[in-house]
Amino acid sequence: MTTVLPTPVVPVASRELSDRWGRVADDLRISLIDKCNLRCTYCMPEDGMVWLKRNQLLTAAEAVRIADIGVRIFGVRDVRFTGGEPLVRHDLAEIIAGVRGLHPEVPISITTNGIGLDRRITTLVDAGLTRVNVSLDTVDRRAFADLTRRDRLPEVIRGLAAAKDAGLDPVKVNAVLMRGVNDQGAADLLAWCLERGYQLRFIEQMPLDADRTWARRNLVSGAEVRDRLSERFDLTPDPVPRGSAPAALWEVRPKGASARDTPLGKVGVIASVTESFCAACSRTRITADGKVRSCLFSREETDLLALLRSGASDEQVAGVWAGAMRLKPRAYGSDAVTLNDPEYVRPDRTMSAIGG
Ligand code: GTP
Ligand code: 5AD
Ligand code: SF4
Repeated sequence: MTTVLPTPVVPVASRELSDRWGRVADDLRISLIDKCNLRCTYCMPEDGMVWLKRNQLLTAAEAVRIADIGVRIFGVRDVRFTGGEPLVRHDLAEIIAGVRGLHPEVPISITTNGIGLDRRITTLVDAGLTRVNVSLDTVDRRAFADLTRRDRLPEVIRGLAAAKDAGLDPVKVNAVLMRGVNDQGAADLLAWCLERGYQLRFIEQMPLDADRTWARRNLVSGAEVRDRLSERFDLTPDPVPRGSAPAALWEVRPKGASARDTPLGKVGVIASVTESFCAACSRTRITADGKVRSCLFSREETDLLALLRSGASDEQVAGVWAGAMRLKPRAYGSDAVTLNDPEYVRPDRTMSAIGG
């Protein structure tokens, strides 16, 4: 069971979401729904998920209010909407427009599986969407169907193309490699993304799958991905500083090219398991049912939804949110330094119910 914490209230005098380890969160990720139209094996079970009920979900107005409190009171610099699959929310454009109306400058992005994005992109961009990350693990139709348990690759490809055509830049692609399923296709996927101008990032699989089949020995590590890609491309570290981004970036050139040649593009490696970036974490998360998760791997959550619905003021909501973030664990939802430490206990929520 995920523990819902009593709510320590921190006076919001500091006007920032700081924790005991000296980090400040200014990157807000709000999950809007736990449902999804795919069933990726590293994320969801084939069936049997128990969904949140409609009245447990943040309404559009509540999601906008949380984003507004984040930006206005805590100086949040980036608002990202996730799921499940955020496009499953029919009021996504309304939510984006609500935030955009209050904050004309803040970047607003979504992390999506791309299905239906081609039909929605114009409305979303008109509403104020600035960027998309699309999850795509392979361009092999059979491997895609195995991995997502749905034969819907062409729809994702159309969604990606539509995002590019709408002028969003960069369009990022997230890929999780699963040994024996799509790991052999890593370089093909990179070539495919480079040709189309998408920035690909490989993500190490994290133990957040519903089936609990994650095993360290099966992990395709960031180092292995780099080795695999280096058989076909030259990779050199991106000169731009990484900051608190989960992805380490590499410039990609054809094999044997000079380091002075213009790169074909960049590739990212998000090595969440083997090369922890928790020390620089700047993220604060709100679940689709309005709970603060200070860490992706948290086992504790703090409820904001009941507070929002009880008539609390923005300052009161902010105080509870700041209190929750104050207790943000050092790494991996605990004081564990790696996922191998005995202190590490995996959370009950799966990735689909956290939003990545
Ligand atoms: P941009 O690069 O700004 O577009 O965002 P992003 O990479 O944070 O966003 P995205 O939603 O595409 O996340 C990519 C992957 O990074 C997902 O698998 C996330 O779960 C993972 N990730 C994001 N934040 C964290 C984090 O705080 N901890 C860990 N371990 N992984 C994270
Ligand atoms: N490990 C790593 N990444 C995952 N994602 C979903 N489940 C996992 C997991 N267990 C990725 C999706 C999406 C992002 C939000 O998280 O592919 O791109
Ligand atoms: Fe859906 Fe994303 Fe989970 Fe796949 S990883 S099942 S696309 S929420």
